[in-house]
Amino acid sequence: MSKIQSSIQRAIEKSRGSTRREESTPSRIFRNFQLAHPRENTMANSRIISAIDDRLAKSAYDVLRTRVLHRLRSNSWSSLLITSPGPGEGKTLTSSNLAISISRDVNQSILLVDLDLRRSSVAKCLGIQHDIKAGVGDFLQGNAKIEDIIYSPDEIARLAVLPNREPIDNASDLLGSPRMKKLVSWLREQSGHSIVIFDMPPVLACDDVLAFSPDVDAILLVAAQGMTERGSLEKAAELLVDCNLLGIVLNKATELMGHDYYG
Ligand SMILES: Nc1ncnc2c1ncn2[C@@H]1O[C@H](COP(=O)(O)OP(=O)(O)OP(=O)(O)O)[C@@H](O)[C@H]1O
Ligand SMILES: [Mg+2]
Repeated sequence: MSKIQSSIQRAIEKSRGSTRREESTPSRIFRNFQLAHPRENTMANSRIISAIDDRLAKSAYDVLRTRVLHRLRSNSWSSLLITSPGPGEGKTLTSSNLAISISRDVNQSILLVDLDLRRSSVAKCLGIQHDIKAGVGDFLQGNAKIEDIIYSPDEIARLAVLPNREPIDNASDLLGSPRMKKLVSWLREQSGHSIVIFDMPPVLACDDVLAFSPDVDAILLVAAQGMTERGSLEKAAELLVDCNLLGIVLNKATELMGHDYYG
């Protein structure tokens, strides 16, 4: 265990009480973070796979998980940025469901970070918004410590979430700040046993993704069927030409497209 981890753990053990995850939780590194209680109906409304009975959706995310983990592991990569050309194409849902699918792998733990600081929706999507007292923006603005912004959703072992609490105006500045570097380096220290997913804004809407992309190992692009225009997708791929682009997830597809759906 790293020095930072053990001091965080000591601090947490000292200051926190009954809302903390108990020792019996299988995940080694997430057991002491703040416990969040996901609301099943909110998760179901968001189409979170653990709350809905949709075999096809689950198996599509499992295929995505297998392929993403294979690419990450074979390159010794541990961090993944998820973006799309435009708004509403399914970045947050893909990030959340991929994170949940990865967390089901007993050998893997996963940290899901909401870095769409202007239009954050990870906490809402996972039904834990009511539990969030501090988020990534609070840490970046110097108003919270790292351990205060990490939530461990009850009954989703091996998943930890770093949500954002409220919209941040100067998001680009904060993403390039020394505190962001500190957060990234803390997240990198977890990479011995964890994958980190960053849910980010549309790549064509602001420069957040391009500014932050050097800090991640790989990028996954989401496109929505019937929504994302070919030109936008090409422009997005062009902008990310210097990054390790894992592939394009076709979201909102009307039918499962076998092995071609992700590539
Ligand atoms: N595969 C899907 N099937 C049905 N609805 C979906 C699917 N993916 C996303 N949605 C819905 O589309 C909306 C936008 O999804 P989501 O918030 O994940 O997109 P986003 O790209 O993160 O948006 P933003 O650009 O605002 O961050 C949500 O209401 C979500 O429930
Ligand atoms: Mg989103």
